[in-house]
Amino acid sequence: MVTTDNRDREKFLEGMRYTASAVNIVTTDGSAGKAGVTVSAMTPVSADGDKPTLLVCVHHLSPACKAILENKVFGVSILSQKQSFIADTFAGRIQAEGNDKFTCTDWIIGETGVPLVLNSLVSFECHVLENTRVGSHHIFIGGVQNTGFQEDELPLIYSNRAYGSPASISMGKDPDYMEGDSVIHQRIRPFNTKDTYPEQNLNNDLSQGVVAKGTMVFLRGQVSQDLETRESLHPSNPILQTRKTMENIKMLLEEAGSDLDHVCRIVVYLTDIRYREEVYQEMGTWLKGVFPCSTGLVVSSLARPEWLVEIEVTAVIPEE
Ligand SMILES: Cc1cc2nc3c(=O)[nH]c(=O)nc-3n(C[C@H](O)[C@H](O)[C@H](O)COP(=O)(O)O)c2cc1C
Repeated sequence: MVTTDNRDREKFLEGMRYTASAVNIVTTDGSAGKAGVTVSAMTPVSADGDKPTLLVCVHHLSPACKAILENKVFGVSILSQKQSFIADTFAGRIQAEGNDKFTCTDWIIGETGVPLVLNSLVSFECHVLENTRVGSHHIFIGGVQNTGFQEDELPLIYSNRAYGSPASISMGKDPDYMEGDSVIHQRIRPFNTKDTYPEQNLNNDLSQGVVAKGTMVFLRGQVSQDLETRESLHPSNPILQTRKTMENIKMLLEEAGSDLDHVCRIVVYLTDIRYREEVYQEMGTWLKGVFPCSTGLVVSSLARPEWLVEIEVTAVIPEE
């Protein structure tokens, strides 16, 4: 077998880092059993012909690959920006309960019997029309027989080894534009953490300073707690704790007449530096295009032992 020159391989992977793709869960079920895997290599092939077609590339050693070959059906669930935990579970980055990846979310079963992620952005059910092995991966071409949609959500995007969501350029997310006088707050020297910490897997839009125009709103340090019942949620899961914390922050800001777009300063408290990437990645999806200034600290403990992250926010209610 001819193997790729190692330098070519590295350059190829480095180049591909800069592409952006949707994140999908490819699933199957049938005589070979149920299996699923996180896949960014999913592409439409043709909308015309007997049926529309798409392709997915799955590593030949993945149990999902063997199962699709035998089951001859697969499902593609395109994830929304709130579903990165499903991608991490099916990529083996988060330990699944009882080693069963399917316990991380709810499913619907399609007409072909394949499980599809409930509330995914889009789902396709496919019969395998063709498959071929190229290098380490099998390419499966699927004839699409059922398509489901969910509106009002943004896709989860994977680029530069980090998750994000799309931002419209015309909405003024360009840092140069943000320094101008025509925006509500002046974000000074905006940057993204993937440039300032290239060795870390981060993607946070931040600024060195913010000149805010409006009435200030100070929030108590928020944690993964139900604000109505005071129940602590998601013990030992830093991603879900961050998500609940950001949900609380969003809700409180809206109650104050502000919103996440007007966050000017954040302070992040972690109980372990190892949570940094996951916490910042999740927080980054909520504050994409906002560019607050940020301080991060590791503390020996928070007020309750189950809390792993606390986030403090200062925002403004913008002047008319
Ligand atoms: C964002 C993302 C995209 C991925 N895309 C693919 C892909 O297109 N094809 C693939 O075979 N693996 C892909 N992977 C890797 C697999 O999900 C990962 O190797 C997984 O652990 C395989 O699990 P399995 O061995 O149980 O099948 C991707 C992982 C992530 C996090």
